[in-house]
Amino acid sequence: MIVVLDFGGQYNQLIARRIRDLGVYSELLPYNTSVEKIRELNPKGIVFSGGPSSVYEENSPLVDEAIYDLNVPILGICYGMQLISHQLKGKVERAERREYGKAMVDFQEHCVLTKGLDKNQQVWMSHSDLVIEPPEGFVVDARTEHAPVAAMSHPDKKVFAVQFHPEVRHSIYGNDMIKNFLFDVCECTGDWTMESFVEDTIKEIRNKVGDRKVLCALSGGVDSSVVAILIHKAIGDQLTCMFIDHGLLRKDEAESVMETFSGKFDMNVVKIDAKDRFLGKLKGVSDPEMKRKLIGNEFIYVFDDESKNIGEFDFLAQGTLYTDIVESGTDTAQTIKSHHNVGGLPEDMKFELIEPLSALFKDEVRKVGEECGLPNEIVWRQPFPGPGLAIRVLGEVTDDKLTIVRESDAILREEIKKAGLDREIWQYFTALPNMKSVGVMGDARTYSYTVGIRAVTSIDGMTADWARIPYDVLEKISTRIVNEVDHVNRIVLDITSKPPATIEWE
Ligand code: XMP
Repeated sequence: MIVVLDFGGQYNQLIARRIRDLGVYSELLPYNTSVEKIRELNPKGIVFSGGPSSVYEENSPLVDEAIYDLNVPILGICYGMQLISHQLKGKVERAERREYGKAMVDFQEHCVLTKGLDKNQQVWMSHSDLVIEPPEGFVVDARTEHAPVAAMSHPDKKVFAVQFHPEVRHSIYGNDMIKNFLFDVCECTGDWTMESFVEDTIKEIRNKVGDRKVLCALSGGVDSSVVAILIHKAIGDQLTCMFIDHGLLRKDEAESVMETFSGKFDMNVVKIDAKDRFLGKLKGVSDPEMKRKLIGNEFIYVFDDESKNIGEFDFLAQGTLYTDIVESGTDTAQTIKSHHNVGGLPEDMKFELIEPLSALFKDEVRKVGEECGLPNEIVWRQPFPGPGLAIRVLGEVTDDKLTIVRESDAILREEIKKAGLDREIWQYFTALPNMKSVGVMGDARTYSYTVGIRAVTSIDGMTADWARIPYDVLEKISTRIVNEVDHVNRIVLDITSKPPATIEWE
């Protein structure tokens, strides 16, 4: 494995991704991870990432200097290079002007990272400080017009450092340089694949669980589905899944979850019909945050009550992903909405946790799902919020309004799929604003609900753009919804991006 130490740069997750994509397992760890912990992990190489700090600032992030004596190859990127230079007594200075964007670099013939590559290359720079003089024992590997030391190395100690960002695609040969570091310098084998991940994880789960029992909260979403199938492959019927139907799911969703897991995969799935409990709680409540909180809490109460009825369990399986861990580490984000995931636990619950996906990114989770034979509808399922349709019915949630959203959403999904747009559009659904308007149908005046169409393209849901659905597809959707769904006489399209809007309407 390769350890990437995180100094807070914006591309840091990308470094870990690039390394994994080359078949080498890599983890992003906080910069102050102890040398003992790193030694235990036994990495083949360590990368110091970029970051916004300057080594001369007070309290700038440093590594324990014992790391340089581990005899493990090191690659410093941007701040990582300045840090190496600073700690090993080279000279770092504030640049006269910030260098940002594409730059041409001249590499020396001897440079190991560019072995087999063009010596004059375009790279991506983003820095304010500069290494002026490398530490003793280091050689200069490259320079640019503005940087006398754009790359440096200590070949005997296997310490390499670059001022630019090889992980960014604008560094044309960046990936090849990472490859040279991994395979030439660190002697990695590059045999980390999803197939090997599945095999190893199954073994680990078997060892950890032994003959004990595991409970998994299954929502039908990608993450919990992949966790369930992976654990089932490892321990079969020692796993029980609990599927809470809160009555806020999309059309036919509960049936499809049961059909897949209980039917096709023959797993122990206990379905809890909790619709009345949830709708009872939501009665008379119209504030969006209040709705979210009530639903989140009710999940926990239902889970708590029902798990006692199902039996005794030693472990609880959760679909925590790598990004959840990395992002919760920074913890600076403001709460825009109270997101929740099924499985938030009362503190007095005495389960040991199993989180088999905690090292994976979302697209890797999908690959594991495919590897385990999950159907495409689940592996490529669009995101669906924990509070379900309750946050797509604006204001108070009632059974009738849920029916309108559920039926119109089913039509939208069907037509988007028919048009072959279901992979292209990241998320698409209908929402019911709390409004009625006048219309005319069959010569008679109507006073009925408006349905909103929301469809966005996005990479991670953090930002999004409204999807340009072709007019003829929109027309079909609009006509079908007003004709087939009772109490609807008008369709509107949401053409706001995120920000300033959010994807969901509540
Ligand atoms: P917003 O509406 O904040 O949503 O732009 C961003 C993405 O997150 C999903 N979402 C949730 N997912 N629990 C979840 O698991 C939640 O409470 C929740 N609220 C929003 C939303 O569907 C979109 O994909």
